[in-house]
Amino acid sequence: MSLKRVFVTYRLPEDILRPLSGICDLEVWTGTKPMTPPELLSSICDSDGIICLLTDEITRSLLENQEKLNFISSMSVGVDHIDVAAATNRNIPVGNTPGVLAETTADLAFGLLLSAARRIPEADKFVREGQWLSDMPWSPDFFLGKDVHGATLGVVGLGETGTAVARRGKAFGMRVLGWNRTQKKDVEHAELVQLDELLAESDYVSIHIARTSETLLFFNHERIMSMKKGAILINTARGGIVDETSLANALKIGHLAAAGMDVFEAEPLLPESKLLNLKNVVFSPHIGSATSLTRKRMAELAVENAVAVIAGRPMPFCVNPEVYRSR
Ligand code: DGY
Repeated sequence: MSLKRVFVTYRLPEDILRPLSGICDLEVWTGTKPMTPPELLSSICDSDGIICLLTDEITRSLLENQEKLNFISSMSVGVDHIDVAAATNRNIPVGNTPGVLAETTADLAFGLLLSAARRIPEADKFVREGQWLSDMPWSPDFFLGKDVHGATLGVVGLGETGTAVARRGKAFGMRVLGWNRTQKKDVEHAELVQLDELLAESDYVSIHIARTSETLLFFNHERIMSMKKGAILINTARGGIVDETSLANALKIGHLAAAGMDVFEAEPLLPESKLLNLKNVVFSPHIGSATSLTRKRMAELAVENAVAVIAGRPMPFCVNPEVYRSR
């Protein structure tokens, strides 16, 4: 019997892929840029399974052409780049990597929060560019920022990452408010409130909801303007949840003091983005989970999902487990 063919869309380290060697016919994309849709289509049409990244758009139309494809394992916790409903219709399990990146992403969310509050990137640029030399060396109103301790943090979305951010807020001596789209019973580290209360009272709002058809532009003009004046918005969840035009306006007119943004409507961020002209935005390029250890764990889970399917077992980390009930 011929081995199953598995296609990997990124050069993952050999030791990570080792559990797959010998149990499948492995092909790894060697390109240095993300695969284009036609490349993705032609590379996976003969595959039994694919291990992909969040930059690989697995659309309904791509899946319609696949007769053989038997699993999709994404090296990400978010799966909004995959048409999961279309995969489920075709009985294809979709795997993700939960449980290993929440703390790392929470660290970045807090890093952006502190950087935006204390204007660290602006201050760094000021020193590097020699501007400090041409100014007073110190003055009472020099680089004033906002206190984090004693302030109110609103966490929107109390999953793994939101809870980890709430815990950091407590450790920094903040009052922590929390809101979740679905009802939560055991909420740790946050006081559960309605969303309008959270937005009106929080000095810092950190977003931790998934991007779905229901959360697209969730932070629209109205919600952004209902935030407390002078507040700071942090997004390490997904682009498209925040309406960036409305955010740029709110920052420009001074309704919001600053924003810390790791994820964007279009990635990479386009040069014409209105956010780029604003000094009070701290940027990072979608690096929430970017530590060596966490990326290793994510890759291991993606491989573990693939190995399970090849061995005839259910994926241990599957976002559409209903496919197994209909088998
Ligand atoms: C994910 O896994 O969904 C994250 O966005 C990667 O940082």
